[in-house]
Amino acid sequence: MARVKKLPRGFYLGAATAAYQVEGATKEDGRGQNMWDVYLAKHGQYSPDPASDFYHRYPEDIALAKEFGLNAIRLSISWVRLFPKIDGPVNESAVTYYHDLFKTCLDYGITPFVALHHFDSPQEMLEEGDWLNRKNIDRFIKYAKFCFLTFPEIKNWFTINELISLASGQYLGGQFPPNHHFNVSEAIQAEHNMLVAHARAVIAYHDLNLPGRIGCIHALKTGYPNSNRIEDIQACKRYDAYNNRFLLDGTLLGEYQSETMQLLQEVLQVNDASLTILPEDLAILKKAAPLNGIFGMNYYRSEFVREYHGESIDQFNSTGKKGTSAFKFKGVGEFVKRPEVPTTDWDWNIYPRGLFDMLMRIKRDYPNVPTIFLTENGMALKEQLNKEKTVDDSRRIDFIDQHLEQVLKARQAGVNIQGYFVWSLQDQFSWANGYNKRYGLFYVDFETQKRYPKKSAYWFKQLGASLEE
Ligand code: BG6
Repeated sequence: MARVKKLPRGFYLGAATAAYQVEGATKEDGRGQNMWDVYLAKHGQYSPDPASDFYHRYPEDIALAKEFGLNAIRLSISWVRLFPKIDGPVNESAVTYYHDLFKTCLDYGITPFVALHHFDSPQEMLEEGDWLNRKNIDRFIKYAKFCFLTFPEIKNWFTINELISLASGQYLGGQFPPNHHFNVSEAIQAEHNMLVAHARAVIAYHDLNLPGRIGCIHALKTGYPNSNRIEDIQACKRYDAYNNRFLLDGTLLGEYQSETMQLLQEVLQVNDASLTILPEDLAILKKAAPLNGIFGMNYYRSEFVREYHGESIDQFNSTGKKGTSAFKFKGVGEFVKRPEVPTTDWDWNIYPRGLFDMLMRIKRDYPNVPTIFLTENGMALKEQLNKEKTVDDSRRIDFIDQHLEQVLKARQAGVNIQGYFVWSLQDQFSWANGYNKRYGLFYVDFETQKRYPKKSAYWFKQLGASLEE
């Protein structure tokens, strides 16, 4: 029996996508190469083509979104589709493509929220140090300004999606190119540089005087000490500083608080790592913070943290075989599984309370936070079509329902959260898991590219209808 039966008037009920995970067509119409194209061609077990073939099938997907009650969608622009050479001319066919895509959404009354960068740096950018090279921040700003001016129909912009997941995948776990392992200096420097890139894009948007809103998307995971031991409590504080506070301070306060930096220094020290912050960076963060008009929070899970001082290990579960992952980060802590907390097949804790706690903490510690959107939340399952040509994903419905309930509870407690985007609209390509990890409201047969609404899509339809009441 669903907990959430009615959504508040004016609420955005959406689904999220990312260009590389849905578009396919990586070699069509003059598109350039991003870092994933090159990496997957060399080392990947999976092909990003045709993914969910959204490049060709977006009219069908947007029509389905409308039919099944959605009034918003998260999309991202592929930088290399727009600029095949990073310092070269614009690819006009990509401009036309994105105009058509956005128009289709708007014609259906589906508000597009658009991200500029969703894990998909151009290959040329990667070869020149990706976000570690400040020259690439300048390039990002040029690309961002181009998008702001070229697509005035977009009124809700996001700069960078989940910069911590990107930096961790690139420089800690090594699942993302350039596949470095626990290079803590690189990870933290890339995060700081992306915070500066975000801030500069916000300032640029503001200076252009456009009638929309802009913000960042962070992946936040609430940390809980695994016990009352002082060592676990301290480890959890360091975890929180590294995973959440550094990002929230940088974006919403425009300054890293001294306690955040002190905890971070402890992590850097034990890992022989360093971070360079230029004085002008701090001025940029400060100037941008009040100009954020929206804030995107992605929430999937929380972590229970135990003190850990051994060698760092990220044993990544890329197959969906329960119990195959382990994460231990020297000086930060070890993630502990608890018998009373259910997990997905990919070992992600299912802990809706963590979402409420994070929203309340943001309200308490960052009172100037702009309008919040839950820009991603969802549950991965291994799925197959049944005889009725649908999928009974009751577990996903339960997951979404439990998390939406926490969103509404936080609203009642005064949190200004105005929308929920499920990850994802349709089944799509998962960066380090390929096609076996499904999240969609719509099942995609990757052979035929046919779409089939899952049980969750029908449940969404009811929720969408409640917005009209
Ligand atoms: C978020 C990303 O981190 O989580 C998405 O923004 C991603 O791009 C999603 O697909 C789920 O992660 P995964 O690894 O299960 O595909």
